Amino acid sequence: FAEPVLAGRRVLLTAGPTREPLDPVRYITNRSSGKMGFALAAVAAAAGAEVTLVAGPCALPTPAGVHRIDVETAEQMYAEVQRHVAGQDVFIGCAAVADYRPAEAVAGKIKRSGADLKLHLVPNPDILAAVAARAEDRPFTVGFAAETDRVLEHASDKRRRKGLDLIAANRVGPGLGFDTDDNQLELIWDGGHRQLGPGPKSALAAELITQIAQCLQDDKPE
Ligand code: PMT
Repeated sequence: FAEPVLAGRRVLLTAGPTREPLDPVRYITNRSSGKMGFALAAVAAAAGAEVTLVAGPCALPTPAGVHRIDVETAEQMYAEVQRHVAGQDVFIGCAAVADYRPAEAVAGKIKRSGADLKLHLVPNPDILAAVAARAEDRPFTVGFAAETDRVLEHASDKRRRKGLDLIAANRVGPGLGFDTDDNQLELIWDGGHRQLGPGPKSALAAELITQIAQCLQDDKPE
């Protein structure tokens, strides 16, 4: 990164999927690879920030200079974010958090019986909304959204509902979004909106971090 635009700033991110156990050998998850979130962590560190990355199960190396905390479930991710959020300047929720988890993880392996099997799922805590709702010591809060249609409209609704400073909406489609090297993002913040890409996640990450740094500077002129 050419300019240390985040020098002296602290950035907390989530990345990757979560894994919600059904029994000792099975779980519910999604197709997130962690590539987008890890690219953001790498760029934020290269831009001079002190970076903490709370990662769901991802087969990716830890970016240089990044403090990585590995978790499995949404509840663990929530707990680690709560533990580390105080004193952060920026929070970026890039993880594809499972919205639901099995009501109880069965202690022994679920046996096949030939009868129908119903899963009882309960909602997971919303990690991003909890950060956005902090009354004090609230970081500049950035959320992601994965949308297939009416991207700007759905994303600006989500930004308002969750009380976010900036939302980065993925146009999910062939070759873009989950488990791909490329992405396309629509950024929406108080001051405007902007399209990034399509292009490699590393390039989009650099542009998004630059935009966040610009918003921080506009918020608190120094
Ligand atoms: O990991 P990759 O393969 O590189 O793919 C990147 C990505 C497509 C996963 C990523 O860019 C992305 O869009 N992440 C959010 C995906 C998503 O499904 O978002 P959502 O609409 O379920 O959630 C919206 C926002 O709330 C997200 O910032 C999410 O992190 C957050 N959230 C959601 C639910 C929950 N319980 N807690 C949360 O914090």
